[in-house]
Amino acid sequence: MADPGFTPTQLSARAAYLLRGNDLGTMTSAAPRLYPHMWSWDAAFVAVGLAPLSVERAVVELDTLLSAQWRNGMIPHIVFAEGVDGYFPGPDRWACTDLASAAPPGVRTSGITQPPVHAIAVQRILDHSRRHGRSTRAVAEEFLDRRWTDLVRWHRWLAESRDPTGVGRITLYHGWESGMDNSPRWDAAYSNVVPGPVPPYRRADTDVVADPSQRPSNAEYDRYLWLLEEMKQARYDDAGLVSAMSFAVEDVFVSAVFSLACDVLATIGEEHAAPKSDVRDLHEWSARFRNGVVATTDPRTGAARDHDLRTGRWIGTETLAMFAPLLCGGLGRDAERALLRTFEGPRFSGHPDLRFAVPPSTSPVSGDFRSREYWRGPVWPVMTWLFSWAFARRGWAERSRHLRAEGLRQASDGSFAEYYEPFTGEPLGSMQQSWTAAAVLDWLG
Ligand code: GLC
Repeated sequence: MADPGFTPTQLSARAAYLLRGNDLGTMTSAAPRLYPHMWSWDAAFVAVGLAPLSVERAVVELDTLLSAQWRNGMIPHIVFAEGVDGYFPGPDRWACTDLASAAPPGVRTSGITQPPVHAIAVQRILDHSRRHGRSTRAVAEEFLDRRWTDLVRWHRWLAESRDPTGVGRITLYHGWESGMDNSPRWDAAYSNVVPGPVPPYRRADTDVVADPSQRPSNAEYDRYLWLLEEMKQARYDDAGLVSAMSFAVEDVFVSAVFSLACDVLATIGEEHAAPKSDVRDLHEWSARFRNGVVATTDPRTGAARDHDLRTGRWIGTETLAMFAPLLCGGLGRDAERALLRTFEGPRFSGHPDLRFAVPPSTSPVSGDFRSREYWRGPVWPVMTWLFSWAFARRGWAERSRHLRAEGLRQASDGSFAEYYEPFTGEPLGSMQQSWTAAAVLDWLG
């Protein structure tokens, strides 16, 4: 069936209009109603989308995020917009200002983190700035000079505090830290979380998305919130969390993103005469985490796995996480080919019934697959963008172009949905999601 959607020119105009609409001044809300604050990895993707529109505004986005960086180096997963309510758990529930000695002064944040895609945004900002005159280039360069130390501090925190034993994999203490909040990847680990008394609460998400099948259940939410209580008891102390948390999983996807981001940042550092010791550390982390990712893989299929530190079990799911090595590299030739075949074949993007040939969050042939449920099946356009960007970087130009073309076909409905039903193409979750617009702007820019 033909897709009558918007033309590329109309689509990019609408995407730009959307980002302007979601602009709160110095931050862009992740989405107008469901996510009315700044989310960490959303902000990075948003900066990627802003860069072709305005390098200056893209820089502001990252500056706002980095101004909320914790003293230990963590970039928090949410920076709360001042005076905006309507999201749960909000800043009072997290209580970071009161409890966490590392929390930043003067800004309210959550107490967990999110995937480290920010170096990619810095690179896109620098790329775009080169197409402009001297003053715009200066804005980007000055940003890099000003924030280089913070970016390295962020990476150092991940490499040290979230991989204290040096295995080359990032430990998460909450499924939300993965950005794939409700993925079947976390089911086994959550099933071992026994919620203690959780202070009363009222969810806000189900007011916005009325169809409960698209959102996590209340029992799941109890566990999510219990983990917050555990963190609060440990006062968000990095060393304390290691033993305090009943959820502790090494996330292979975040680890691959981190390896890749270290590589990107190292290259930027080399090009801009950053301190040699920083560049050396970044290269080291990139290699350590690449090895850490590859060590989880099945030698024949190349599929990567998460690792539950509480049970010692490997978690092999047919989700986007299995493709982690395609982002950071490191597999042998045959295993990589096999993994690419899975990515493009009938278990994922090549499933014959898909509306568009883009990877669903969970394989349609997996027992875990749910076509409309949060991170259990639908397509996230921003994930399509991430793979298409990474594939281009890895030299797979044709594969990258194909993902871009299919991703754009999907987005041409103009809803900029948070996620899409993979078979029907129905837009789901939040509409006017900033990062979906950002992906489109980068593709069309
Ligand atoms: C959801 C997603 C997370 C995203 C946030 C804001 O929580 O799971 O990845 O950052 O929404 O868009």
